[in-house]
Amino acid sequence: MKHNILLIGSGGREHAMTWRIAQSESCGSLFVAPGNAGTSALATNIEIDINNHQALKEFCLTHTISLVVVGPEQPLVDGIVDYFKSENELQHIAVVGPDSKASQLEGSKEFAKEFMSKYSIPTAAYQSFEADQLEEALAYIDQIQAPYVIKADGLAAGKGVVIADDTETAKGTLISFLKDKQFGEASSKVVIEEFLKGIEMSCFVAVDGTENYIILPRAKDYKRIGEGDTGPNTGGMGAISPVPFENEALSKKIEETIVKSTVKGILSEGYHYRGFVFIGLMIVEQNPFVIEYNVRMGDPETQVVFPRFETDYIDFFNAIASGKLNELKHVEIHEAATTVIAVSKGYPQSYEKGKTIVGLAVIDDDRIVFHAGTKTDNEKLLSNGGRVLAFTSYGQSIQSALDKSYEQLSKASFEGMTFRKDIGFDLETE
Ligand code: AMP
Ligand code: GLY
Repeated sequence: MKHNILLIGSGGREHAMTWRIAQSESCGSLFVAPGNAGTSALATNIEIDINNHQALKEFCLTHTISLVVVGPEQPLVDGIVDYFKSENELQHIAVVGPDSKASQLEGSKEFAKEFMSKYSIPTAAYQSFEADQLEEALAYIDQIQAPYVIKADGLAAGKGVVIADDTETAKGTLISFLKDKQFGEASSKVVIEEFLKGIEMSCFVAVDGTENYIILPRAKDYKRIGEGDTGPNTGGMGAISPVPFENEALSKKIEETIVKSTVKGILSEGYHYRGFVFIGLMIVEQNPFVIEYNVRMGDPETQVVFPRFETDYIDFFNAIASGKLNELKHVEIHEAATTVIAVSKGYPQSYEKGKTIVGLAVIDDDRIVFHAGTKTDNEKLLSNGGRVLAFTSYGQSIQSALDKSYEQLSKASFEGMTFRKDIGFDLETE
């Protein structure tokens, strides 16, 4: 049976998802809303306002869609899954993604902290403060030691976390979050938490609404714009999988102390959660702590995780939506995969779009160029975002995959193309 599918999103993550879905023999018509130039080569991009649920419904019924996959967090937090669950005529459609309540695990830092504390999931100690508790928050800074980790409670496009080395910066951040509402409602509450010194990695778990779960290949992303992990945070400048410092003992701890309790918590709370849990971890002396939950796959981590996770992706997404992950056949393939992101000059601050992109011919089967912010205009390929392209490669080792990613990237260009030359730099010494 062929499936008609609607995928929501427009980044490199969604291009990687499109690539995987299109490989399935049961793929019928595949639509991406809004998609990018990369997805348009494999699927039909559609212009539809994804916040207009009624329009989505009409589209799904007209095109006999049987599977909807939601890539990014915002539509999840905004209740897209709740809508599909609530409409009688849409009950036959399998939907991948949590409902808005469960999405609060990403949409509210305090909500996530309370969840972790209730289910004894290791995380940094914390206190939260509302806008009318600015004085208490400032006084709290005087009681604790630097560095200070201050997080806006709500979604702030990856910019809502400040790590301050001195009390002055910490207090200034609290004032701009709570008093000046730097991120509007999202910073009308803050979480101040203990600083964890360690090394970060990400763990992705597929859940299907039962006790079943599948842990996908782990990955590490590189969030800072500058080499040596310096400068402002971005959406992610590159990623590698697997994580070389993860040994069996650590994998076991992650599964036992974090994954199992998270799945149990989701079930005990009665959340409607059929999708991906992205667990951001800090490994402190070989012990994992959760620093954040996201309720979706990562970008650019998907561009290394999905290439290494081999299965029929339509079966995979349908299994997630129907509680049948225990029946899914899957294997991890390739020793390593890496991705290096090419971004527009100026990103993550202001940048220009519309630059002509050339040189994307792929050298061999070990490489894939995923598009992030791209579009086509009169057959010309143009940049259309901060993160523009993801150069993914397979390899026998992280280093050999990286060599291929950089070789492939060196053939491509657009005006102002910028990238980090040191993805994976930190792993030799860890
Ligand atoms: P988050 O959005 O919560 O993942 O935070 C963004 C980044 O801030 C993380 O990727 C970490 O690098 C850093 N971070 C967050 N929480 C902590 C913490 N408790 N201790 C140290 N670094 C942290
Ligand atoms: N790469 C981090 C994220 O997707 O949030």
